[in-house]
Amino acid sequence: MSFVPFDRPVRAAFVGLGRIYDLNVRAYLGNADVEVVALVDPSAERRAERLADWPGARAFSSVAELASSGVELDAVEALLPIPLHADGVVELLGHGWHVNVQKPMCNDLADARRMLAAADANDRVLRVMENYVFYEPLVKLKELVASGTLGDVSGYHMKMVGSGRGGWEVPASSYEWQFRQMGAGRGILVFDDGWHKLATAIWLFGPVREVRAWVGGTEVVPGVEIDAPSTIVWEHADGVRGVWDITLATDMYLRSDYYTNDERWEVTGRRGFARVNRCTGRGIQQPSLEVYADGEMRSYHALDDDWASSFRDSGRHWLRWLRTGEGPLLWSAAEAVDVLRFALAAYASSDSGGAGVDPAALA
Ligand SMILES: NC(=O)c1ccc[n+]([C@@H]2O[C@H](COP(=O)([O-])OP(=O)(O)OC[C@H]3O[C@@H](n4cnc5c(N)ncnc54)[C@H](O)[C@@H]3O)[C@@H](O)[C@H]2O)c1
Repeated sequence: MSFVPFDRPVRAAFVGLGRIYDLNVRAYLGNADVEVVALVDPSAERRAERLADWPGARAFSSVAELASSGVELDAVEALLPIPLHADGVVELLGHGWHVNVQKPMCNDLADARRMLAAADANDRVLRVMENYVFYEPLVKLKELVASGTLGDVSGYHMKMVGSGRGGWEVPASSYEWQFRQMGAGRGILVFDDGWHKLATAIWLFGPVREVRAWVGGTEVVPGVEIDAPSTIVWEHADGVRGVWDITLATDMYLRSDYYTNDERWEVTGRRGFARVNRCTGRGIQQPSLEVYADGEMRSYHALDDDWASSFRDSGRHWLRWLRTGEGPLLWSAAEAVDVLRFALAAYASSDSGGAGVDPAALA
């Protein structure tokens, strides 16, 4: 790819102005690396609401309208419903724009290949936005692992509890496409939110050579099944074992400014352990990162543990990357395919009754 960094602010558009725009926008506000020139959403109400942030931008009801408008554009922040990612990204790249698309990249490898091929064919950069690898307590956890404080790592444990009460409003329209995803076997916990968890495993410990899983389901209202309880275990190529358990606490109230997701990450080493106590919600009210080694517990009290800051920092990283071309994309489209393979291996294992599946062997 012949990418040349921009020697001026990047001209960007938001495509999709729904719930998650509220967090993604934080990377763009007050950022000299970017000029927001366009907004796209079929909803007139959302266009009007979001235009208040960008009085100088033009708003369109479709990408086709934007493309034929004469507005000059370099890059798109794609905040589309997941079922539209593959076709949407191919369309955006086809107009010659670089794309930062939300996770999960897409539902299967055939769509992933189409997306990568479109990036190649149009000589444009496709990034799959991952905010968790910018969440400061997790960034610090990675530093701790690398520093050797914990000794050689022997295990990685993630826990996630989907709770039914608390948090922000999710628009009813979002549930329509979420239900379509569930119907396609790509549940909201294992696949949608799970994408982040699987991404942290690869980010921390590298390639995964074997995955075993048991994906369950719980009917929460008639006809709607959430994909928990589920358990996924795996082994990285370097021998580190991981386990992620997903449970549902339908009636539990969880204090959260965002989604009601109670999460923890724990790395165990030969000398000690480190644990991130929360992320999206405000479950455990202790410092967000604690480290135990050699008989002493250390707590990090001053980390930026607001989940929204991870969106700000991931987005800023992308915009800076477009200005400099320096450093990893976190994630490139090819790296995102590894996350997709990890998830697909979990489904393949679960379908086969828990047999070990090598993500790289999936066709
Ligand atoms: N990183 C995270 O932690 C995180 C959290 C939540 C959502 N997301 C991702 O963000 C994306 C959007 O999720 P959301 O919760 O904002 O959904 P949403 O339903 O609230 O918003 C989607 C928006 O896209 C608009 N839209 C639909 N079709 C369109 C089209 N053809 N062109 C332009 N706009 C169109 C809708 O009108 C709506 O405003 C999804 O990919 C989701 O997985 C990521």
